[in-house]
Amino acid sequence: MDLSIENVINQKLGAIFQKLGLDEKFALVKPSDRPDLSDFQCNGALALAKSTRRNPREIASLIGAELEKDADFAKISIDGPGFINITLNDAFLGRLMDKMSADDRFGCGKTAAPKKVVMDFGGPNVAKALHVGHLRSAVIGEAIRRIEKFAGNEVVSDVHFGDWGTPMGMILSEIIRQDGDLSKTESYDINRISAFYKQANIRCKEDESAKENARLITTKIQDKVPEYYKAWQHLRRVSIEAVKQNYSELGAHFDLWLGESDAHQASFEITDIAKAKGLSEVDDGATIIRLEEDKKPMPPVILIKSDGGFGYQITDIATIKMRYDDLKADEIIYVVDKRQSLHFEQVFEVAGKLGIAPGVTLKHIGFGTVNGADGKPFKTRDGGVMNLEDLIKLSKDKVRESMPKPGEVEGYGEAEIEKLVTQIAIGAIKFQDLKNNIASGYVFELDDFAKFEGKTGPYIQYAIARINSIIRKAAAAGIVPGEIVITNKEERDLALKLAQFGNTVMRAYNEYEPSIISDYVYTLAQAFSSFYSTSSIMNAESASAAASRLKLATLVRDILKKLLELLGIEAPEVMLKREAE
Ligand code: ARG
Repeated sequence: MDLSIENVINQKLGAIFQKLGLDEKFALVKPSDRPDLSDFQCNGALALAKSTRRNPREIASLIGAELEKDADFAKISIDGPGFINITLNDAFLGRLMDKMSADDRFGCGKTAAPKKVVMDFGGPNVAKALHVGHLRSAVIGEAIRRIEKFAGNEVVSDVHFGDWGTPMGMILSEIIRQDGDLSKTESYDINRISAFYKQANIRCKEDESAKENARLITTKIQDKVPEYYKAWQHLRRVSIEAVKQNYSELGAHFDLWLGESDAHQASFEITDIAKAKGLSEVDDGATIIRLEEDKKPMPPVILIKSDGGFGYQITDIATIKMRYDDLKADEIIYVVDKRQSLHFEQVFEVAGKLGIAPGVTLKHIGFGTVNGADGKPFKTRDGGVMNLEDLIKLSKDKVRESMPKPGEVEGYGEAEIEKLVTQIAIGAIKFQDLKNNIASGYVFELDDFAKFEGKTGPYIQYAIARINSIIRKAAAAGIVPGEIVITNKEERDLALKLAQFGNTVMRAYNEYEPSIISDYVYTLAQAFSSFYSTSSIMNAESASAAASRLKLATLVRDILKKLLELLGIEAPEVMLKREAE
């Protein structure tokens, strides 16, 4: 059932166009440019006039006359050169709200052709703590994963662990340098391993022979030489455990915990196919594929490095083959920093040349960086890289400041307060990220992101909790939700806003852009505020008005919750705020 208001009107309009013998592709409405005059407008007559060389006002009048016969419209007017302005009937809007309330998808349609979508996001690396750079991939990736599912697709998410590159050899060679061998490796926890990695990083920057040695050891791991392979398995296991905890706190879900290493076997297949097709060549000891440079300079793709190892590019190519062969993907979506755009262009181009995933849509959603107030990548106060854990802690500390102390509110001890603090703090971080366009970077507003006012996660969570409380009070007063009847402007505006739910979600889906949902959830919460300040439930003019408003409020609450759910943000039943002193 698709109850999106624009689609409902488009359908009516389509039937009229058909009857009048007009091209149906112009039977489209959009929200009115003059909301003071009408709810929607159709500019189709102007487009039709151009292609058929008829008078636009004349065509508009013919359409208008048909629209007027429909009792769902209160007013039709033809304005200017041939705009058709449409105002909906209040009774029609009320019925639409009732239908949305009765539907578990609130009248949102689904994609016409469901697909199997593989999503690649997260992209953590062995031995590296997650930092703010990883935040966007997890937060945006999870939101898109949920939106894809809601739209009707089957989604498989894969974390694509970075576990096969030179850093692996760097860590092991550093351990050997300090311990003499790898015998103690399995006793090291994530902190020790990260420390080895940091030291290795410094050493390899200064010392070319250390780098060479790290490369050598990386090939030993890749060749599964037992001593090295076993030590590597430990690094991987420990890193995955650490990272799983981070992702679960962020509410990011992965169906598969595969890594670059899992593409090793398929990488041989890729080199074989490339060779058989005569696409690869050996250049300076490396096996490469050259790409055409007709649009812009495209460096060659490296299949086998000169040291004999597989690198980042071939692992991604081989992984595409696996996702096609094993997972039967129709589409693969990568949510990765946009600075990797060239990498994905190259990889997609080679996948096409090799024919390893015919018919599969490959899509890179590149996001911008999280910046500090200085416009440079976000750092800690002392200039270090901001770890995700530190950021979450910082956010929690901030939220805790505006919470009552444990025990101050009945039923809220330490555990309950902390649960709430976590829900709000994570919600604040996520909303701050998701309210921005994906491709543009954003400045992390340290002072404002966790406030309860403004365009923030806590503001929306608060709006939901407030409606919960309104609903509880109404129920206690014996009010039961009843038929929705529009009686004033605020109710009408709110209903029109709610009627945009399905369209908005499907637009976010089609454009891979969760910020469309963030904008909408914010304006919907505002529309509710205006409604509630004029349209009392407890002191309504009549019992039927109270019942109608309660049902409308419930619909708003349920839709706000659904929208936050699509963004991957929790909605606590009750919100607390410290009493002003
Ligand atoms: N691990 C990579 C990095 O930290 C990101 C992986 C992105 N996904 C991919 N299929 N390449 O840069």
